[in-house]
Amino acid sequence: MPIYPASKISSLKLAARSIRSGGLVAFPTETVYGLGADAMNPTAVAKIFAAKKRPFFDPLIVHIADINAVRDLWTDMPLLAQRLAEAFWPGPLTLVYRKRSNVPDIVTAGLDTVAVRMPDHPTALELIRLSGTPIAAPSANLFGRTSPTTAQAVRDDLGSRVRVILDAGACRVGVESTVLKIETRGVTLLRPGGVPLEALRKICPVRFSSQPKTKSSKMRSPGLLESHYAPVSPMVLIPGLTQAVLKRFAARYPKLRLACLLWTPMTHLPRNCHAGYLSRRRNLTEAAAKLFETIRKLDKMKPDLILAQALPKRALGLAIMDRLMKASSGRVGFNQAEQLLRKGDWK
Ligand code: TXA
Ligand code: MG
Repeated sequence: MPIYPASKISSLKLAARSIRSGGLVAFPTETVYGLGADAMNPTAVAKIFAAKKRPFFDPLIVHIADINAVRDLWTDMPLLAQRLAEAFWPGPLTLVYRKRSNVPDIVTAGLDTVAVRMPDHPTALELIRLSGTPIAAPSANLFGRTSPTTAQAVRDDLGSRVRVILDAGACRVGVESTVLKIETRGVTLLRPGGVPLEALRKICPVRFSSQPKTKSSKMRSPGLLESHYAPVSPMVLIPGLTQAVLKRFAARYPKLRLACLLWTPMTHLPRNCHAGYLSRRRNLTEAAAKLFETIRKLDKMKPDLILAQALPKRALGLAIMDRLMKASSGRVGFNQAEQLLRKGDWK
């Protein structure tokens, strides 16, 4: 399936024609690559779910290039939404608010709200403009898998399921947008992401969602599923993963092929362990940008187990930890790692 350079206007025109005629286009945003279709065309949107093998209960984000486009999507523009949009659009912030009836139900999974964001990427913005319609797009990966931050990662996952992939190199932010629900009583954080909580709190107070972590179809934001963003090899999140602790663990399982997703530099790694560093400078923005690509790289080595080191939960660290927790399916600590290994008959 062809990858087209986003720098060429002919690629953008081809992609826009595909959107207008009800096809799918994978395109870069500042967060991750999206798999887009005309948001107002339910048949086109259905193709997204089929290509990703995504369950229909998981609603999509609608991408716009102009703030006035919300008029066709939301019933009105509450003051709080306006202030947040002014502060963070274009950018990695998605706002969920009451939808108008013309927004197809397949986009919102039948909810009475629709998620909207204006991406901060010239290719995404130009594609939306040329298509002349808002574009519904989830991350361009198979459902439940690691989000793609390069065109190649999209191809690895979706293969021949998409006819057009626009390539603009690696995504700048690297984790998906922050999802906020706007209600009369204020705003609720549904998913931490590219806009840090600290920045949002300068505009308004933010409540945390108290949604239970279930796999039910009644959930308010399925991005909150406990297992998501998962690599093929099992991952376990290890708080306090130091060099000494890792050495002891690796020595107990000398035949185990280990991979470690690391935040703190380690000078000596056990022989049976491959390391992927998120940021040698210990910079959380860089760590976010490298997160999914590093997970994919480690996963491609087909290790028996991936250990992920915990990061500080401030700034982009909150979104990173959310993704690591879900990529680990909620497994935390060496006890859980050993439990996994017992199941796999490792001694
Ligand atoms: O950065 C991003 O947000 C990327 C790029 C492509 O824009 N998109 C993305 O889409 O991450 P997706 O489908 O992987 O995640 C969308 C999240 C899901 O957690 C979904 O449940 C939530 O947004 N969502 C969408 N519409 C919603 C709604 N009406 N109410 C609550 N949550 C909603
Ligand atoms: Mg996704």
